[in-house]
Amino acid sequence: MPPPPTQAGTLSTRFTTRFGVPHPILLAPMGTVAGGALASAVTAGGGLGQIGVGYGDRAWLEREFARAGHARVGCGFITWKLAAEPGLLDAALEHRPAAVTLSFGKPSEFAPRVHDAGIPLICQVGTAEEARQALDVGADVVVAQGGEGGGHGVRRRSTLTLLPEVVDLVAASGRDVPVLAAGGISDGRGLAAALVLGADGVMVGTRFWACREALIAGEAQARAVGASGDDTLPTTVYDRVRGYTWPPGYTSRVLATPFVRRWHGRDGELAAALPELREQYRRAAAANDYDVAQILVGEGIGVVDAVRPAAEVVEGLVRDAVAALHAAAPQGPTGSRCRGAVSASEVVP
Ligand SMILES: Cc1cc2nc3c(=O)[nH]c(=O)nc-3n(C[C@H](O)[C@H](O)[C@H](O)COP(=O)(O)O)c2cc1C
Repeated sequence: MPPPPTQAGTLSTRFTTRFGVPHPILLAPMGTVAGGALASAVTAGGGLGQIGVGYGDRAWLEREFARAGHARVGCGFITWKLAAEPGLLDAALEHRPAAVTLSFGKPSEFAPRVHDAGIPLICQVGTAEEARQALDVGADVVVAQGGEGGGHGVRRRSTLTLLPEVVDLVAASGRDVPVLAAGGISDGRGLAAALVLGADGVMVGTRFWACREALIAGEAQARAVGASGDDTLPTTVYDRVRGYTWPPGYTSRVLATPFVRRWHGRDGELAAALPELREQYRRAAAANDYDVAQILVGEGIGVVDAVRPAAEVVEGLVRDAVAALHAAAPQGPTGSRCRGAVSASEVVP
């Protein structure tokens, strides 16, 4: 049954059709931030929610799927981390998620199990080469992640150039695989731009991080909301201090806290001070002290005006994207302008 139109208008794409959702918006599987409450709220708002397992364990996964209740949600993994605890994938598949997203690592080890379970496989990629690998393993959706985004990434490309290149690469393969954009999309203008660049939708992290349902301290959100994208930077400081062994080439985009400003680019000094810094970080994280503890947000934080309920964010993204598309093409956006968006119509209230 086609999803009902909403007050926000409709943006129908291959993604909305494939997943049977009203809006082309996928919640990024933000590790231990996107729990069951946020995932189910995004789904209830008309997008598709995902639980971000990240560094979580089996108990965390089970708790968050329980919190999602009967909502249709997907879940996502950090691929290199999953390799250390592969049983987590089986645990997730038992919940029959709407999709499984694999990011940051080679998906080939896990793709067959996802396919065998009959679950759509989403691969997040940071380069054109990774997009080819995603197609090779039979990804059902490819997410092109630019370096503007919050959290981890290879950060070698921007969304503006990577996205159309991946769209063309997928089209040239002859495969009917929707492409989503990720990285720096925090409002309707970003969604509209992604559709114009040929995307079938967007995967959004930072804007949903600043939602009431996110598993994140209010103190962190209060610090980040109102910050500029200028106040973020990609760094390895927090991974090193927390002892997370990310593969070479990955950085995480964070808000520039006093702690990061102190240690970013001082690798030798940081290595020497590591035991004390670990202890300082542990205490700060437990006390929600965000002069020290990390705040993972992307450049898109610069257009985030307030912490809002996730459903309101979904509705605002779509409403403002439809308005932006109409403003850019006063005769009305059409499928010929947007490869991904097969139709966009405004519902007059
Ligand atoms: C707080 C936070 C945690 C993240 N954790 C993960 C993760 O565990 N796995 C993953 O695939 N992506 C993760 N990401 C990256 C997102 O999947 C996505 O690429 C990014 O959020 C998109 O850019 P945006 O933040 O500008 O929306 C995270 C992003 C943020 C902001």
